[in-house]
Amino acid sequence: MKILVIVGSTRQNRFSEKPAKWIFEEAKKRKELDVEMVDLRDYPLPFFDEPISPAMAKEPYTNKNVQKLAGKISEADGFIIVSPEYNHGYPAVLKNVFDYVYKEWNKKAIGFVSYGSVGGARVVEQLRQVAIELQMAPIRYAIHIPPQQSFDVMSGKNQEPNPFDVLKHQADSFLDNLTWWTRALKKARESDK
Ligand SMILES: Cc1cc2nc3c(=O)[nH]c(=O)nc-3n(C[C@H](O)[C@H](O)[C@H](O)COP(=O)(O)O)c2cc1C
Repeated sequence: MKILVIVGSTRQNRFSEKPAKWIFEEAKKRKELDVEMVDLRDYPLPFFDEPISPAMAKEPYTNKNVQKLAGKISEADGFIIVSPEYNHGYPAVLKNVFDYVYKEWNKKAIGFVSYGSVGGARVVEQLRQVAIELQMAPIRYAIHIPPQQSFDVMSGKNQEPNPFDVLKHQADSFLDNLTWWTRALKKARESDK
């Protein structure tokens, strides 16, 4: 099963790549998962500018980077989105990606890793709603990184053991659940053919 870990922030000095690398390494330990990291910096997109809603479009996406990203999303069976919370919502750069691509997301599992003053709880609730509209299955489990862990990672303090290790148990349940849904939906998609 192919899983993409998507780094949800592209800004300079971002934190998101750190938890993304951590969950990427945790997911890679599972032999049933083929895990790849996707950095949205490698797919710079304009603000949504397609002539037709992607849900209605019959032709390929017009923008070359959207085509490239949509190809990557299409190969995947499930997703881990690593997202900050910006003003109690999702980063515009991440929402832009959800808006640009449609059928490639459909009928696939998605789970969230978030951070912020309340561990990004608010952004995950919003992202789940977006995922449902894209015909995805957002899983019940999420990893909400507490502010102390984010602070330790960013400040370089208390690095031994790895600050993310306190989340190991949560990561295990999260990955178990994501794997279950990914497998179930992959089988269901195959039976659609
Ligand atoms: C525009 C902006 C809005 C923010 N709003 C929130 C917020 O609503 N809740 C929160 O917990 N943190 C908020 N923060 C703090 C972020 O959690 C923190 O800056 C985090 O490092 C951002 O993720 P990134 O570094 O991966 O971009 C905000 C940060 C920015 C830049």
